[in-house]
Amino acid sequence: MDIPTKNNRKILVTQALPYANAPLHLGHILEAVQTDIWCRFQNLNGNECHFFCADDTHGTPVMLKAKEMDISPEKLISDMYDDHKKTYDIYGINFANFYTTHSDENRKFSENIYLEAKKNNLISKETIEQLYDENEKMFLSDRFIKGSCPKCGAEDQHGDNCSVCGASYDVLEIKDPISIVSGTTPVKKKSEHVFFDLPKTIDILNRFLDKSNLQTPIKNKLKEWLNDDLKKWDISRDAPYFGFEIPEEDNKYFYVWVDAPIGYIASMENWLKDKKLNATDLWSKNSDYEIYHFIGKDIAYFHGLFWPALLSSANLKLPDGIFVHGFLTINGEKMSKSKGTGISAKDFAEMCDPETLRYYLAAKLNDKVEDLDLNFEDYVQRINSDLVGKYLNIASRSATFLKKNNNELSENIDKNLIKSLTDEKEKIIKLYEERNYSKLIRLIMDLADDVNKYINEQTPWKKDINEAVSICSTSLNAFKIITIYLSPIIPNITKNAYKFLNLENCSFDDVDIKLSGKINTYKSLLNRLEPLIIPEEDNMENENIIDIKQFSNVDLRVAKILKAEDVKDADKLIQLTLDVGELGTRNVFAGIKSSYAPAELNNRLVVLVNNLAPRKMKFGISEGMVLASSNDDGIYLISPDEGAKPGMKVK
Ligand code: 2FM
Ligand code: ZN
Repeated sequence: MDIPTKNNRKILVTQALPYANAPLHLGHILEAVQTDIWCRFQNLNGNECHFFCADDTHGTPVMLKAKEMDISPEKLISDMYDDHKKTYDIYGINFANFYTTHSDENRKFSENIYLEAKKNNLISKETIEQLYDENEKMFLSDRFIKGSCPKCGAEDQHGDNCSVCGASYDVLEIKDPISIVSGTTPVKKKSEHVFFDLPKTIDILNRFLDKSNLQTPIKNKLKEWLNDDLKKWDISRDAPYFGFEIPEEDNKYFYVWVDAPIGYIASMENWLKDKKLNATDLWSKNSDYEIYHFIGKDIAYFHGLFWPALLSSANLKLPDGIFVHGFLTINGEKMSKSKGTGISAKDFAEMCDPETLRYYLAAKLNDKVEDLDLNFEDYVQRINSDLVGKYLNIASRSATFLKKNNNELSENIDKNLIKSLTDEKEKIIKLYEERNYSKLIRLIMDLADDVNKYINEQTPWKKDINEAVSICSTSLNAFKIITIYLSPIIPNITKNAYKFLNLENCSFDDVDIKLSGKINTYKSLLNRLEPLIIPEEDNMENENIIDIKQFSNVDLRVAKILKAEDVKDADKLIQLTLDVGELGTRNVFAGIKSSYAPAELNNRLVVLVNNLAPRKMKFGISEGMVLASSNDDGIYLISPDEGAKPGMKVK
């Protein structure tokens, strides 16, 4: 089914709720960026679209993580909430509401939906046998058990399948089981569980799969699962469990996958608290709103089967579509801390402008369920070539000529060039709507190429001032159109571009409006990226113990700053000329500009890493590194005490 593309649609969008047991990684940002671009586009295109999310706070991993940290689960989820919110903010993710599943609203909706399902005869109980950790006094879910494969005997197999022979089995069959939580041998124990009767909803689910907007491979897979061997779904967990208690039961908790998606509704309810609606109106069968979920391919089963089944059991609206993306790899590898590819989203944002990641991910995303790779070399090359070299280049070179005309635009512009850009609007809207961002970016960059070619051919530098201003007014009108086209992808850079053009934020309708009057003086909107190098500390897990020999391999020296100068076109760097006593002088580029002015550095003593391999940079060769410490507030150079002389060894 095609999504309607008329304007004035009312749309509610969610992304998967991140678990509250760890900081966000770049995979989370991939999904957030894909979703945020779509929502921003909808709003710019005259629709009303709201984007909801929350932290997924319940379940065993959160409970065990809090225990490991010796804090309460409430403290852990509250700290993680702040951290997640801040990180999403850094990447410009524009939620209508970012909430938590550990909330009164979510408890209420979880209970109500469950009780409705019970009223509709979809709930039953059965006694099952599970492995139980007597040390920790808890039942163990599959992921907390390891042992030998019952089929081939391979050791150290986790959960209910074997990585050696590929067999799947009931975790009770695993040989010599060990609890990963306590390292002891678990025992078998019986307990009564609450089940949701999934098979009874099979007709509803089949209709849902036929009707809703799903990618073909996902639809096929869900149909296969649905018509295969659908079983009742175990929705309860025994204490101890961090979650909501099931009403009308004794000490039973909702399995986290029950209240997690209900958290979508609760986030909306919380957002609506001062408005006249409540979330049940938005989710009622005759709601005016379209509802879409963006998720990763690993959780398609939950969203494509369990979730619509739960919703239908309470007579609520089913999603209009579920959009699934693949996994993110980094430099061709799965994300892993020990390979330096498990860098947190927050740390990555310190290495480069976060908007550049939005752009790069968009340039790779399409409507398929394919995995995509973030390759650091390609990343730097792509940003420098597309954003700096093509898009912003139009503004910087055109602005030079306008300056000669007191920044006044000409009314006399080349309509043919402008028409060739406005003519692409409908195509661009369709590509956004279909989440085909990679194709969209190729098209927009082709337009930027055309504009640069136009400037090259018109040679404003050879023309008189009037003609030059008219050529550059044309290219700035084109720049405005491209800025609107790119604005859902790089909202911050384009916001600054609007300021340069003396415009308020524009919508897709403004593509057809001519730019006139005066612009502002052009200031660089993005610097070229330097090669990305993952900081050492992210490259190592806990293997950061070194011996004295390794330490003494580092030649640390006292050095005196003879000269400190700004580096043109580098946001973060100061160029230092250092006196290292008998060893002579060294040239070092230090990333300390955000906290120091060159003038205050002269004659200051610092500590130099003297035997670091020289690093070739765009601005020259850096022959070492000065030591500094940093936190969110700033950078602090390390200084030797008074009396130390340049060249002295630091040991
Ligand atoms: O897989 C996950 O990361 C889950 N925390 C996603 C939950 S999405 C929704 F159902 F809440
Ligand atoms: Zn096996």
